[in-house]
Amino acid sequence: MRTIAVIGAGQMGTGIAQTIAQHGMSVLLSDVDLARSQAGKAAIEKSLVKLVGRGKLEADAAETLLGKITPVGDYQPMADADLIIEAATEKEPIKKVIFEEAGKVLGSNAIMASNTSSIPITRMANYSPDPERFIGLHFFNPVPVMGLIEVIPGLATAQATTDWVSDFARGLGKEVVLSQDEPGFVVNRILLPMINEAVFVLGQSTAGIEDIDKGCRLGLNHPMGPLQLADFVGLDTCLDIIKVLYKTTRDTKYRPAPLLVKYVEAGWLGRKTGRGFYDYSGEAPVPTR
Ligand code: 3HC
Repeated sequence: MRTIAVIGAGQMGTGIAQTIAQHGMSVLLSDVDLARSQAGKAAIEKSLVKLVGRGKLEADAAETLLGKITPVGDYQPMADADLIIEAATEKEPIKKVIFEEAGKVLGSNAIMASNTSSIPITRMANYSPDPERFIGLHFFNPVPVMGLIEVIPGLATAQATTDWVSDFARGLGKEVVLSQDEPGFVVNRILLPMINEAVFVLGQSTAGIEDIDKGCRLGLNHPMGPLQLADFVGLDTCLDIIKVLYKTTRDTKYRPAPLLVKYVEAGWLGRKTGRGFYDYSGEAPVPTR
């Protein structure tokens, strides 16, 4: 049976771990320490309990799935992993340390992947022991529900690595889109300018939060409006991605909306902090402007 390691037990890492375990593989889930890794597993359990309560999952299946996820406090157990997926925070210096440290135990045939939303794969490959076995594997939130994985080979990635992770992604029941290693890849290159523009529209008082989101939900048939989606992704993550697009292309069309910067500076990061463009303290989200 395959063993997959997931580094980062936040929103994305836990979604990735759950999806992999759901497809019968063993998962090693790690974060900065064992307690954080265990908290990640507890978050998965909470989401499974909800699914069981709604009759979407059998209690036995939830237990089997949870049994496949092992929280770990260091990288040593990952020596046996076929694939190590990094899903840590979208900050390159943090990812660099992870690739260097986890790289010390990476098996001689194992692959290392990053779930980065926008940081160049070719550059990060150099932080790993073997750039030929390094690749981008970009999941979408909520991972168990979304049907896509982007596969992004860097300049040095071997074709065998691309083939292996593409098969792996399809084995998770996802469709694969292959992207060149260009800023934002395919989906975030399109999504983030839309979210950023929605914040400009809000900042210029062209419309309020509710109407901007309603416009995209009903006028474009999007399941969520861009401001609600920004809260869902995390405003800090949105800002990080748009900054990467701006910095790497130097194209002013990607300049971050000043209001997005302000929200992040205020610590209003979206659902995870209880407040972003919406307030999440009550039963239903309430627009804050
Ligand atoms: N595990 C398994 N299944 C789950 C689940 C979980 N953790 N959470 C929800 N589900 C299932 C539910 O059981 C439900 O199944 P059903 O259709 O059989 O009833 C289904 O998923 C939908 O869940 P809900 O009914 O609770 O929720 P909604 O119908 O309101 O849909 C949503 C929620 C799927 C989040 C929808 O609003 C949506 O698609 N939003 C847009 C999400 C999006 O765009 N994501 C991409 C963000 S960009 C990104 O991630 C890239 C990054 O780099 C920034």
